[in-house]
Amino acid sequence: MAKLTRRYLDYNASTPLHPCLDRKWPQFAKAFANPSSLHESGRVAREAIESARETIASFISASPEQLVFTSSASEANNQVIQWVFDHHGPDAHVIISGLEHSSIREPVSYIQSQGVQVSIIEPDTQGRICVDDIAAAITDQTRLISVIWANNEIGTIQPIPEILALAQKNNIPFHTDAVQWLGKYEINLQTLDVDFMTLSGHKCYAPKGVGALYAKDPIGLTPFIRGGNHERGLRSGTENTMAIMAFAEVLAHTDPSALEAHIRPLKSQLVDQLSERISDYYLVGNQSHCLYNTLAFGIQGVDAQALAMNMDLLGIDIATGSACSSGATEPAHSIKAIRLPKSQQNEVVRLSLGQFTTAEDIEMSLAALSQSADQIRHA
Ligand SMILES: Cc1ncc(COP(=O)(O)O)c(C=O)c1O
Repeated sequence: MAKLTRRYLDYNASTPLHPCLDRKWPQFAKAFANPSSLHESGRVAREAIESARETIASFISASPEQLVFTSSASEANNQVIQWVFDHHGPDAHVIISGLEHSSIREPVSYIQSQGVQVSIIEPDTQGRICVDDIAAAITDQTRLISVIWANNEIGTIQPIPEILALAQKNNIPFHTDAVQWLGKYEINLQTLDVDFMTLSGHKCYAPKGVGALYAKDPIGLTPFIRGGNHERGLRSGTENTMAIMAFAEVLAHTDPSALEAHIRPLKSQLVDQLSERISDYYLVGNQSHCLYNTLAFGIQGVDAQALAMNMDLLGIDIATGSACSSGATEPAHSIKAIRLPKSQQNEVVRLSLGQFTTAEDIEMSLAALSQSADQIRHA
C-alpha cells in the first residue's frame, strides 16, 4: 500500500524544525562542553549561550540580561507564579484570565491552596477578556496580573497593551504568556513595557526543551529550580546549549510579516471553502481578534474525537483541544471558558497552520473534513 503523505495542521501544539537548522547541528555540537566549566571548551559553550541570548533578546527588543533560559514555557510560567508567592506570601491577590494555559492555572491554584486570593477573569463568549472586568477585580493586595497574549486552543488575541496600561496605572506587575505570539507577530518590549513574558522554542520552529522567561527586573526574580546557580542563580540546571543556540538561529531567520503573508491567505481559503463544503458548521472565537494561523470550529452533530480520528486515518493531523493535555476527553479549558453550549463542547476541532502549510494541504483537508463529517453523521 502506498504510504500516505501526512498533512500537518497542528502547529499550535508544536512546529517542525526550521530548515535553517539543517546544516547547523554539527557546528552547535562543537559547544558540547559544560558552559560552567572554566576551560577553553567550556568557554566555547558559554560564549555560544551568551551570543544566543543576545540574538533572542534583540528579537524582542530586550537586553540579554533580562532573559532567563528555562526548559519550557511551562517552567517559565510556573516561575512567575512562584515569584508572587515567594515575594508576597499568602496575603497576595493575583488576577489571571480564564483562558490561561494550564501551566499558569495549576500553579495559581496551588498558591491559592496556600492562602493567596485569586480572581479569574472569564472571557466573553467570543473568547475575549474585557479590560473593565480586570479593573473591577483589582484590590490593594493585587500583586500580579497575568493574561495570555493569544490563546492556543481557540486563537483569540487579548488587548494586552490596554491591560498593561491598567496594570501600570495601578502599579501592579504584569505578565503575559506570549508562546503563541512569538514569531507570528513583532514583539517590542521597548514599547510594550511588560514586567514578565513567557516564550517557548518549539512553537516557533525551534526544538523542544528550551523556553525563556523575560523579566524586566531580573534581580527581583526568584529561582524556581535551585541547586547549581546557573542563569545567575535564577534557574539551576546545566543549560540546554544546542537547543538554546537553535532557538536563536531560528529567530534570526524569522520574519513575522513574511510568515503572515504566507499563512493568512491559506486561512482565508480554509474559512471561505468551509462554508461551501460543510453544512452546519460554526466558527469558535472572535475572528477579528484571532491568530492568523488558527481556526477553531465545530460541525453540528459531529463528535470532534471521531472527526480527528477519521482525519488521522486520511493522513491529516488536527487537534481537538490542547495538545498539552492530549488523552483527555474533557473539552478543552477555553471551550468551557467561553461557555459554548454543552451540546457543542465536544464538537470543536482546531486547525493551526504554519510555515510549511500549502494550498494543497488546505484543499485536501477540506475534502477529508467533508468526507469524514458525512461518514460520522451517517454512521
Ligand atoms: C500558550 C501556551 N503557553 C504555554 C505552553 C507550554 O509550552 P511548553 O510546551 O514550552 O511548556 C503552551 C503549549 O501548548 C502554550 O500553547
